[in-house]
Amino acid sequence: MSDSPAAGPPTLRAVRVAGTGSYLPEKVLTNHDLERMVETSDEWIATRTGIRERRVAAEGELTSHMAAKAAEKALEQAGLAPEDVQLIIVGTITPDTITPATACYVQQHLGATRSVAFDVSAACSGFLYALELARHSIATGAFQNALIIGAEKLSAFVNWTDRNTCVLFGDGAGAAVLLPSENGHGKVLSSHLGTDGAQAELLNIPGGGAACPITIDNVDQKLATLAMQGREVFKHAVNAMRRAAEVAIEKAGLTTDDINLVIPHQANLRIIDAIAERLGVGKDRVFVNLDKYGNTSAAAVAIALDEANRSGRLHSGDHLLLVAFGAGLTWASAVIEW
Ligand code: COA
Repeated sequence: MSDSPAAGPPTLRAVRVAGTGSYLPEKVLTNHDLERMVETSDEWIATRTGIRERRVAAEGELTSHMAAKAAEKALEQAGLAPEDVQLIIVGTITPDTITPATACYVQQHLGATRSVAFDVSAACSGFLYALELARHSIATGAFQNALIIGAEKLSAFVNWTDRNTCVLFGDGAGAAVLLPSENGHGKVLSSHLGTDGAQAELLNIPGGGAACPITIDNVDQKLATLAMQGREVFKHAVNAMRRAAEVAIEKAGLTTDDINLVIPHQANLRIIDAIAERLGVGKDRVFVNLDKYGNTSAAAVAIALDEANRSGRLHSGDHLLLVAFGAGLTWASAVIEW
């Protein structure tokens, strides 16, 4: 008979966020600029969405370039050399190419030669889906660290003649480094993911895939751009994010009062306000930067986390609630003890 303990469920290690980074392209596109492109107004966009301006990547500047720039900052803050990175997961719906994954290009840009790299496609929930996958990969001991990134070049997939969508989106990237939590302080406490594929039609890019290739006959229809049923998406977003937030808070053994800062997906200020109100969280505990960047999909929560971190809003022991919602439909939440 062996002396070794009976095989039981593996002991899971706690995992912490050890560094964050973000990158926004230089070019600013204001609501006033958009007034000259489509029939809209600064007043309509600002009151209906809260967005005042967004960033647009330069022509040759790709999702992987922005992702790598955000990643470099996160790695530097975490004190992790690129060659020591073991896992790279990029959340994106605007990959440089259909294949290989944008994460492969990011690996190349960083010189993270010893890492495994792949993408997750979960739209605006992509960064939190990546967080969940990476957290468990480290918790089980399969990997010792992970670089998670949300990055988008949405400007390449927006129909710039459609005022219903073109005013909403922007480009950018955010990143975080995950490490095992050594001293008990600073760890991801809980998370929750969800998907409702029955609502896939509400928000999608209908063309450009195998279902609807772009051909000479349909090229004028701009099918490889974002299409959205805004009002329906709005309702689902409020309900799903509220529920996701409540589940993650409960799983963490906390109540809403214990949350020091909510970092929500940055799509629409009215959605954020509605969730905060339903959760009973005052505006002083909600991080908002969509006025500057618009909706950067998978990058939004990652950029917001980095801005909150670098602006000194996060203190050791604080409880953060991250919550996102996007095409799929997908939703995700996490509670982090900073
Ligand atoms: N400028 C001026 N008018 C505009 C406009 C624009 N940029 N975009 C739409 N409109 C018009 C519409 O054509 C409509 O006109 P009509 O009443 O004559 O038909 C009117 O404004 C109201 O449109 P509606 O869709 O009801 O507006 P809304 O208050 O629902 O706001 C969104 C539209 C898109 C801002 C809002 O529905 C939204 O934010 N939805 C969720 C989007 C989202 O978060 N997507 C990403 C999820 S991750």
